[in-house]
Amino acid sequence: NNPPWPAYRGYHEYSFAHATMGVRLPTILGKAIEDATRTLNEQSSEDKIIDLVQCIERMEDLMHDLSGNAKLRPIIDDGEADVALWNKEIAKYFQGKDFMNAPWLFAEAYKYRRLHECFMVSKYWQDYDVFYRQKCDTFSRSSDAVFELSMRFAEPFKISDNLSDAEKLEAERLMFLELTQVCLWGNSTDLSLLINMTEEQIKALQSTGGDHLAATEKNILGNHLNQLWDTVKDLRGKTGGRIDFVLDNAGFELYCDCVYADFLLQSGLATQIRFHGKRFAWFVSDVTRKDWDWLLNTMVYGQLFPNATENELESLRRLGTRWKQYEKEGKWVYEQHPFWCTGYTFWELHTEAPDLFLHLSRSDLVYFKGDLNHRKLTYDCAAPASTPFDIAIGSMASAAGAPKIASLRTVKSDVVVGLGAEGDEIAERLDKEEPGWKISGKYAVVLLSEGRPG
Ligand code: F6P
Ligand code: MG
Repeated sequence: NNPPWPAYRGYHEYSFAHATMGVRLPTILGKAIEDATRTLNEQSSEDKIIDLVQCIERMEDLMHDLSGNAKLRPIIDDGEADVALWNKEIAKYFQGKDFMNAPWLFAEAYKYRRLHECFMVSKYWQDYDVFYRQKCDTFSRSSDAVFELSMRFAEPFKISDNLSDAEKLEAERLMFLELTQVCLWGNSTDLSLLINMTEEQIKALQSTGGDHLAATEKNILGNHLNQLWDTVKDLRGKTGGRIDFVLDNAGFELYCDCVYADFLLQSGLATQIRFHGKRFAWFVSDVTRKDWDWLLNTMVYGQLFPNATENELESLRRLGTRWKQYEKEGKWVYEQHPFWCTGYTFWELHTEAPDLFLHLSRSDLVYFKGDLNHRKLTYDCAAPASTPFDIAIGSMASAAGAPKIASLRTVKSDVVVGLGAEGDEIAERLDKEEPGWKISGKYAVVLLSEGRPG
């Protein structure tokens, strides 16, 4: 039940796997050590200091394993809910493998799990997130795009009563298409690729206006936006209207996801939104419960934007207050299943986490955000670009009960599918004309699978 194409591995020099495993992961881990050291130097309690020094020593051991390409060992039973899932996968498939010859997706995920283990076995630092400072800081440097959206959307979405039904639906369709793109391009600012971005670079990535969106639609290489609208417009009032988001990054991307989810609720297209985050620090910038709480609370109470006008700050407070209210009323639910922080691809979701599969199968539409989720959906393997999306995601489309799935992803790694019948030629041309097109985040896909009734 595996795809017929080989999975990318660290020793594949032609793939982004090679640079990631050899250079990017050690760099990210080095920065994580710097962060923990900074925290260490701010401590006063002897017990906590000694405990944190030991965490840092374990991170240094991990650095040694990673740069020396050590064999992957089982995860220590550190009390996290996913230990059995991890060790089952290691025992079954990756016994004796090292960081470079194990599948890239697995080895990269394994590194983040080992990093978590460094803290989980400690007494005081189990919840410590080495990327938290960076996540908060990047949001604080995203002010232009943050206020552009809050000034537009603080006022609840309402279509004028003077329009005919057809005009109303058209206004709603246009808003849906625009906000789907806002949600999509929010994914271009993930921190694992963009360490040390300048404020100008962040601004360029985050501009949201209408003209900009028309121009960026050209860069959506596999584009099911219209089919997606056909699916979503039929949800209203019909089946309970539950929409799920399998989240990717904290800060600005999460903020865009929430603006979109807010519209889906207010327009009556959905009645409940469930957000799925990570249990611990994952691929640098992924959303944890703490990031979720931080965003909503900082919008309402924070003082992150000293140069903003009172109107801008008020718009942000109103949005944040409304979102917190959705959470209180159960219209927005935040969840964190252990499966999301494992090395399994989603081809294995229905067998390795049947409870989660059943839960998702009750949703009317599941959005998967970002590059990593896309890699997991597609088994991170060398499928031709013309491969139809529902074939590329295997059991997530073909198993009984598979929900409708939409992947909103800016292309930041090798796997590219769903480009249509001409897809292989398009990919070949881009390979020639724009080397690096698969990792620049300039291109994107919006792909839909219709699922299979249970
Ligand atoms: O390290 C590579 C990677 O996993 C890529 O897939 C992607 O560039 C990045 O990390 C994570 O991106 P995202 O936050 O969009 O999943
Ligand atoms: Mg991410």
